[in-house]
Amino acid sequence: MNCFRKVTDDLYWVGGNDRRLALFENIHPLYHGVSYNAYVLLDEKTVLFDTADWAVGRQFIENIKAVLNGRPLDYLVINHVEPDHAASLEEVLLRWPDVKLIMTPKAFTFLRNFGYPVEPEKVRQVKEGETECFGKHTVTFVNAPMVHWPEAMVTFDTTNGVLFSADAFGSFRSLDGKLFADEYDFAGEWIDDARRYYTNIVGKYGPQVQALLKKAGGLEIQFICPLHGPVWRASAEGMIPYILDKYQHWSTYTPEEQGVMIVYASMYGNTENAAEILAAKLVERGILNTRMYDVSSTHVSYLISDLFKYSHLVLASVTYNLGIFPPMHNFLADMKALNLQNRTCAIIENGSWAIQSGKLMKEALAGMKKMTVLDSDVTVNSSLREQSLSDLDALADALAADLKK
Ligand code: FEO
Repeated sequence: MNCFRKVTDDLYWVGGNDRRLALFENIHPLYHGVSYNAYVLLDEKTVLFDTADWAVGRQFIENIKAVLNGRPLDYLVINHVEPDHAASLEEVLLRWPDVKLIMTPKAFTFLRNFGYPVEPEKVRQVKEGETECFGKHTVTFVNAPMVHWPEAMVTFDTTNGVLFSADAFGSFRSLDGKLFADEYDFAGEWIDDARRYYTNIVGKYGPQVQALLKKAGGLEIQFICPLHGPVWRASAEGMIPYILDKYQHWSTYTPEEQGVMIVYASMYGNTENAAEILAAKLVERGILNTRMYDVSSTHVSYLISDLFKYSHLVLASVTYNLGIFPPMHNFLADMKALNLQNRTCAIIENGSWAIQSGKLMKEALAGMKKMTVLDSDVTVNSSLREQSLSDLDALADALAADLKK
């Protein structure tokens, strides 16, 4: 049975929710599911904006049919071809073979590479700033390369201010019947999923997101309709500025909060012990915004997400095979891959012989942009001793002083 929602008088959400998927992109854990959004506009012509993942394909098709209510589908605008959105394209083409497709030239190439039966004569390949009129509504196509793939575009309806934003402004988490961000406690319930989505999916492409935000800044946006997560509407005061502000921070690698994230890699609890003592010493110095993570038991996507949030990072790692403990090594590699920058860091190293992890973690940080490493390293030889406590005091002092700058 169909299950759609109205966005405006003539625009409908026709997507679906997947609460069974364990790993988004087969890498990022999902505990609250994800939505695949698509939208149908009923104008003189009917228009579908994007398709959906195959997991919700049947629901998606039922929704489109219900909204069209017997009308033909005239246009399909494809903003992004990643298969979590384009996978149901073939099903749409089978059911509405006369539909005209609109996409960027790169999207056309990518779809053909993925094996979709897209016939060139049915496709209008659009460039930046081109428009299409569907009757009352006229839309403008705006390139959004690398948000999140090179072919991506967003589509702006100049008639009613709806921005079809592709992956931008999306979020992990399925929709609980509610469609609009203001129907949720977004800042309390959703923001961590939104941040983890952005930082791990698009985080690497801050400059490209900045370019898109600059273009969006010139638009009179009334609604933001992303391909995942809730819809944002200007009528809910403060909601669109709220998410724009988050994107401004994330895409410029500016911390949201002054706070310390302690990530430790510990085999037998001694490095963990150092991390725990440091955290307590920070709190004693009035630094209450602290978070601790065992790198071995926390998926790296959560670590990346929180690192986009906090200003300071303490890396505490045992030496392993004369290197950095592998999960910590993986975290550092992900930080670099996602272009993480502009953080203040501190190092705790441990080892029972040939202690190397501190030097190697510093080398890894030196390979990233604008990373400052405090000159207060702590070295632990197997387990903590009296000297370790004064070293941790010095590190806590240095962190507290830097945070209060
Ligand atoms: Fe949700 Fe880049 O696809």
